[in-house]
Amino acid sequence: MADASSLPRVFAGRRALITGGLGFIGSNLARELVRLGAKVSAVDSMIPEYGGNVRNLAGVAGKIRIHRVDVREHAKLAKLVRGQDFLFNLAGQTSHMDSMTDPETDLEINGRAQLALLEACRRENPGVRIVFASTRQIYGKPDYLPVDEKHPVRPVDVNGINKAAGEAFHLLYARVHGLRATALRLTNTIGPRMRVKDARQTFLGVWVRRLIEGEPFEVWGGEQRRDFTYVDDAVEAFMLAAAREAAVGEVFNLGGPPPVTLQRLAELMVEANGGGAFVVREFPAERKKIDIGDYYADDRKIGRMLGWKPRTGLRAALTKTLAYYRKELPHYL
Ligand SMILES: NC(=O)c1ccc[n+]([C@@H]2O[C@H](COP(=O)([O-])OP(=O)(O)OC[C@H]3O[C@@H](n4cnc5c(N)ncnc54)[C@H](O)[C@@H]3O)[C@@H](O)[C@H]2O)c1
Repeated sequence: MADASSLPRVFAGRRALITGGLGFIGSNLARELVRLGAKVSAVDSMIPEYGGNVRNLAGVAGKIRIHRVDVREHAKLAKLVRGQDFLFNLAGQTSHMDSMTDPETDLEINGRAQLALLEACRRENPGVRIVFASTRQIYGKPDYLPVDEKHPVRPVDVNGINKAAGEAFHLLYARVHGLRATALRLTNTIGPRMRVKDARQTFLGVWVRRLIEGEPFEVWGGEQRRDFTYVDDAVEAFMLAAAREAAVGEVFNLGGPPPVTLQRLAELMVEANGGGAFVVREFPAERKKIDIGDYYADDRKIGRMLGWKPRTGLRAALTKTLAYYRKELPHYL
């Protein structure tokens, strides 16, 4: 069993490429890999509407090779994947609403570019170990809770369909071409370096921003139950998935501490902040159509097979996140 204590041995001196490496989760992963002695390269298009931010690599940027490349530039991918030991594939368009107003862009990034990247690996570096950032969004409205990996995949928005395709391409290339790929289906991930400017990445980002700015934030609905993974725990899952041979060809849900209603989450945020206010509002009609209602993951498979478990409680996760933005907010607006 590859528990977390073996990770320094796995990554020290090895070459790791992170697509979306200046984004929220990708940059936290990059920082941890640098700490473990890996030779890290990051690919990011830095489109302003997405989560990439140079501040995310503050203090480690000199130790990371940064490529400002868009994964839709298919011809550039071969050179990037050549010689890498690990490919952490996190580049993505993450906004559900944007995927409904501009579905083609979502398809190009979350669908076509994923296929192009896998083709580049197949031709240039078939031995590279790949971990793909998939999403719980692909399940759609749950038939049952908690949602395990056997739950039907029935997305409710264009983003979910394209992410499901991206994931399916990875698993197909593992099955048919022998690529060593794993997919992690992430739930809401929170922590330092997430996008707080607006709600494109997560509603929680705006909550954090409003709280720090001393303004009330809006909770839509409030009754939905959700689970949250602290970003350090998500990063550990990516590394365990890459380190462990048994993960090849598999998909794993990530979960977190026990689920809470959004109203309870809002109360916890205000407590963690030592004050603040929120208003509960009806769910906006255009969002309701693509909302998945209650969701929380059954993450026992990754626990059983890779020894992963979420270590950070929700209160601690919120406290650490708020502490980061209390200092760093100006760099994220
Ligand atoms: N944060 C979550 O709660 C969550 C939940 C489920 C799945 N995910 C998945 O995890 C991955 C990382 O998400 P994140 O939360 O860190 O978001 P993020 O937006 O911070 O990171 C994505 C990164 O990809 C980059 N990117 C986007 N399009 C690109 C392109 N065409 N070429 C190169 N780079 C591009 C962005 O600039 C950004 O830095 C995404 O694939 C997302 O779908 C995240």
